Amino acid sequence: MGNVYESQHPLVKHKLTILRNKETKPKKFRELIREISILLAYEVTEDLALTAVPVETPMGMTQGALLQEPIGLVPVLRAGLGMVEGVWEMMPGSEVWHIGLFRDERTLKPVEYYNKLPVSPTVQLCIVLDPMLATGGSASATVDILKRWGAKRIKYMGIIAAPEGINALHVAHPDVDIFVAAIDERLNEIGYIVPGLGDAGDRQFGTG
Ligand code: PRP
Ligand code: URA
Repeated sequence: MGNVYESQHPLVKHKLTILRNKETKPKKFRELIREISILLAYEVTEDLALTAVPVETPMGMTQGALLQEPIGLVPVLRAGLGMVEGVWEMMPGSEVWHIGLFRDERTLKPVEYYNKLPVSPTVQLCIVLDPMLATGGSASATVDILKRWGAKRIKYMGIIAAPEGINALHVAHPDVDIFVAAIDERLNEIGYIVPGLGDAGDRQFGTG
């Protein structure tokens, strides 16, 4: 069974508070999404496998360690785009595969419109990047796509989750670990997370 991790890091809580503020403008909002993603990546990658390697410093030899395998970063368009850059900077050897989904605001069901996966998986671990886990439909559909493609190990990294979304992703994909900055109270009647931060895509891109 996958686990659910809600970050307890003070820096994450601080930045998330500014992110939620309705007065925060798109430029600052994007910076915060990037910074929170870097901090969360630290927690998500805690169990990555290492290979021991010798390294020669200017002072002599020592034992070092390098990541054993490349990672696949899977941003879900649009809102997941803002999470990629910072995480990629931490792991520049990663591959990035974009999945385009939008939520039909009437049915709240995800609609796939873009998929840029290579022919077969080339990495052991895929990290799905999407800031909002609301009904869980988009995250579950993304994991469905990755599993059909052959991905073996998948983690989900988001910023705010509703309990309903966590439950839905857990039921659909019990093997997927979920990492978020905060678990909020609930979904409202139109499927938005409360208190949440509003529409993560619109707030990043200045639309809506
Ligand atoms: C948002 C968000 C998730 C989805 C979450 O995307 O980025 O992908 O909603 O909702 P769910 O858990 O109920 O599926 P949205 O559909 O607004 O598209 P956008 O990122 O292009 O704005
Ligand atoms: N998508 C968002 O951007 N925000 C929500 O609260 C729910 C879905």
